Amino acid sequence: MKREETSGISDTVWLATSKSLKFSPLRKNISVDVVIIGGGISGMTIAYMLANSGKKVAVVEDGWLGSGETGRTTAHISYQLDMDYSELIKIHGEEKAKIVAESHKQAIDILESIIKKEGIDCDFERLDGYFSGNRKDLKNELKAMHSLGFHEVRPVNSPINSVKTSCLLFPWQAQFHVIKYIKGLANAFIKNKGQIFTGTRAEKIDENGIQTEKGFRINARHVVVATNAPVNENSLYMKQAAYRTYVLAALIPKNSVSRILLWDTEIRPYRYIRIKDYNESSDILIAGGEDHRTGQKNDGRKRYLALETFARKLFPMIKKITFRWSGQVLESNDGLAFIGKNPGSENIYVATGESGNGMTYSVIAGILISDLIFGRKNPWEEIYNPGRKSVFMTKRFFQETVKTAEQYIDWLKIENVYPKMKKNEGTILQSGLKKIAAYKDRKGKMHLHSAVCPHRGCIVQWNDSEKSFDCPCHGSRFTAEGYVVNGPANKGLSKWKEESKEWKEKGKDR
Ligand SMILES: Cc1cc2nc3c(=O)[nH]c(=O)nc-3n(C[C@H](O)[C@H](O)[C@H](O)COP(=O)(O)OP(=O)(O)OC[C@H]3O[C@@H](n4cnc5c(N)ncnc54)[C@H](O)[C@@H]3O)c2cc1C
Ligand code: FES
Repeated sequence: MKREETSGISDTVWLATSKSLKFSPLRKNISVDVVIIGGGISGMTIAYMLANSGKKVAVVEDGWLGSGETGRTTAHISYQLDMDYSELIKIHGEEKAKIVAESHKQAIDILESIIKKEGIDCDFERLDGYFSGNRKDLKNELKAMHSLGFHEVRPVNSPINSVKTSCLLFPWQAQFHVIKYIKGLANAFIKNKGQIFTGTRAEKIDENGIQTEKGFRINARHVVVATNAPVNENSLYMKQAAYRTYVLAALIPKNSVSRILLWDTEIRPYRYIRIKDYNESSDILIAGGEDHRTGQKNDGRKRYLALETFARKLFPMIKKITFRWSGQVLESNDGLAFIGKNPGSENIYVATGESGNGMTYSVIAGILISDLIFGRKNPWEEIYNPGRKSVFMTKRFFQETVKTAEQYIDWLKIENVYPKMKKNEGTILQSGLKKIAAYKDRKGKMHLHSAVCPHRGCIVQWNDSEKSFDCPCHGSRFTAEGYVVNGPANKGLSKWKEESKEWKEKGKDR
């Protein structure tokens, strides 16, 4: 099946201001040292670093480079993480939290040095980040940062005129245009004899390579699964939760807001803001937030409105909203990404669970996975080890497990039996005891698929903002026509007429 969409139907400021990074698909069997699955920022950074160190590397990407969550990011480059350091210290202890903070700080420097070395024109700039929120959170976070030796973090007045509260200043963070950066990485990778195949889906993954959807084989000594949610067999989906997060981009008069990063933690999950150049008279203000567990809500319109109200209150100079999009982040239960050997594998590596910090994690993944492949020691190995047990002892683990378990009840719900569907709309239909993911396209043609997620059998839900069917259990997503766009599932919804015995068996288990 051919996929022309990105991982959502909405356009983003990055995708709209750059050309799609497409290469030829794989059309023959090849052999390399390392095959990387996924051409987002993680896959491309790992590929770049390995090729730079002399490995023969191939990247396979189902869509095109950056067409996954990378093209839907807001691209703050920061060592301030989604989980506060005060919380990380509670879970991991001060010593490990310090290594975490240092790894992200170092990642910003390394990212900057790559941009300089390769001469990548990607609007990279250093700027200050501001953490705002209630007094207690600010106090706890300041104490945490100082205990980790980050004395540069300090209380300051809010840099936004309309806000009178205080903030914590995180100096010397950064931002860039993520797709321009990926393009630069791809050029440097190709110069180092790297091979990129887009429109190429890895269907089977084993210890010795991959087989593509079209039946071609890449033999490799090492396989890196950089598909955001890993699409190979493992239990990492139990250690992280998929969240949908919403973004809008608005035109504001040029230089009317200082160039900053802002994380407003007044409500959780927090809201995030940055500014981007647009033209001679305007800048673009990018605001994000309003997160919810994937597939557990279908009220995007309400969320964009809440985001707009928030942004207009803080920035009354907003002229016009130019883009609205949403994307997916994977929140690990203990606040840290999973980077390293796939649990139980010899030659397979993963990078996932990066929350809203994938820019810096891409560099950490590049360094750590390169070291593991070359057999070098790395101080981050234990902390980001995908097999670590700390994820099972957190409060978040229990909360997320309950939210996941509740979704299996969808099997019992009676859905729209005889719905009146509008064009370009989807829903879940009921046929006897079976559930059907139904989409009526713009021409009025119906597309019917089993609503049973091919990952572990939950019932997918319609997401009207992105015109997709989203799984409320572990975040797999499918286009309205049933094609898979987010793992952990690695195949699409099965056509309704061709419903296989496998689905019937899965249905019986629930
Ligand atoms: C709205 C939003 C805001 C964010 N803001 C920030 C931020 O400000 N700062 C920050 O650091 N992070 C942020 N993040 C997180 C960050 O964008 C992500 O962590 C990062 O882009 C993920 O990169 P990736 O390479 O791991 O995944 P992706 O970019 O999703 O790349 C994975 C690729 O794998 C491909 N693929 C999947 N399955 C297969 C297969 N079987 N075969 C071949 N290819 C396959 C997909 O097509 C995809 O292109 C944000 C995310 C979102 C959604
Ligand atoms: S993503 Fe796991 S059941 Fe759907």
